[in-house]
Amino acid sequence: MRRPKISIIGAGNVGATCAHWILSAELADVILLDIPELTVKDKDGNDTRVPNTMPAGKALDLYESSPICGSDCKLVGTSDYAQTANSDVVIVTAGIPRKPGMSRDDLIATNTKIVGEVAEKVGKASPNTVMIVVSNPLDAMVYVAWKKSGLPTHRVIGQAGVLDTARYRSFLAEEVGCSVEDVQALLLGGHGDDMVPLARYTFAGGIPITQLVKPERLAQIIQRARDGGAEIVKLLRTGSAYYAPAAATVQMAEAIIKDKKRILPAAAYCTKEYGVGGYFVGVPAILGSNGVEKVLEIELDANEKKALDTSVQHVKDLVAAVKL
Ligand code: APR
Repeated sequence: MRRPKISIIGAGNVGATCAHWILSAELADVILLDIPELTVKDKDGNDTRVPNTMPAGKALDLYESSPICGSDCKLVGTSDYAQTANSDVVIVTAGIPRKPGMSRDDLIATNTKIVGEVAEKVGKASPNTVMIVVSNPLDAMVYVAWKKSGLPTHRVIGQAGVLDTARYRSFLAEEVGCSVEDVQALLLGGHGDDMVPLARYTFAGGIPITQLVKPERLAQIIQRARDGGAEIVKLLRTGSAYYAPAAATVQMAEAIIKDKKRILPAAAYCTKEYGVGGYFVGVPAILGSNGVEKVLEIELDANEKKALDTSVQHVKDLVAAVKL
């Protein structure tokens, strides 16, 4: 039986950590791709271009861990898109991460160029793939990736909601003093600052969270989850979060590779759904081998609808700022 194939574009922190999770779960063979050359200083202090062997180094290092983790997945590090051909899933993490004081939106010009170039090559090499976009600002980058890849809308998905929900769920589990596995939650809208938490759809062990956590405390936890990315950026000082973003991405990849039909919050293309009108927005979606197989529309009250509309407007403003 052919093992599934996942290509990861961008072998930096998020990309390499995705490869690590994929290997640990023995989910798929992995192609780890990054730019072909790097600029380094020569012995006289002048800039010189050298081949970027980093993806090959990370792939080999991970492969050498496979006898220990008992995983037979193959890993290849490369800068050649031919090696990514016919991937079942392509994860796009290429781009620059933010530094302290930067918002995700500050990355837009640089990452539009990078993600656009990458998506074009991915679409040519793997015309039947499902592409999961992780690069920020997510809600705009997933749009860029769709436009440039030529892939159908249901085969392009942004990773944001699984991460935001995981942050929210872990803080709630801490508050309730229960297992993280017992907290279920749903978020809608844009990534991070823009997310719309739905307290009515949040449960711990089947009990509505509003019966376990007081409204003021819940509001504080929601705010911490919203600022979750910035909290990590501040602590790391260089670069942004990668363990949880990578775990979230691989959970989505697993749902697709194994055709699990999982209901996960994902940035999916919505037209009439939630009245979005042709943008990628965080919504509950059924993920399977065809990518987004269905967007689930849930009932929203007036406040929730208002918060979602505000979030969608920010997504629209971000997309309008994209220069393709
Ligand atoms: N093609 C392939 N790889 C590229 C390209 C490109 N055109 N441009 C940049 N890269 C690579 C970089 O060389 C680097 O190895 O993308 C990688 C990014 O890795 P990091 O700098 O470690 O950034 P990371 O923390 O992984 O974040 C990547 O994901 O969560 C988002 O906001 C984050 O946009 C950022 C992205």
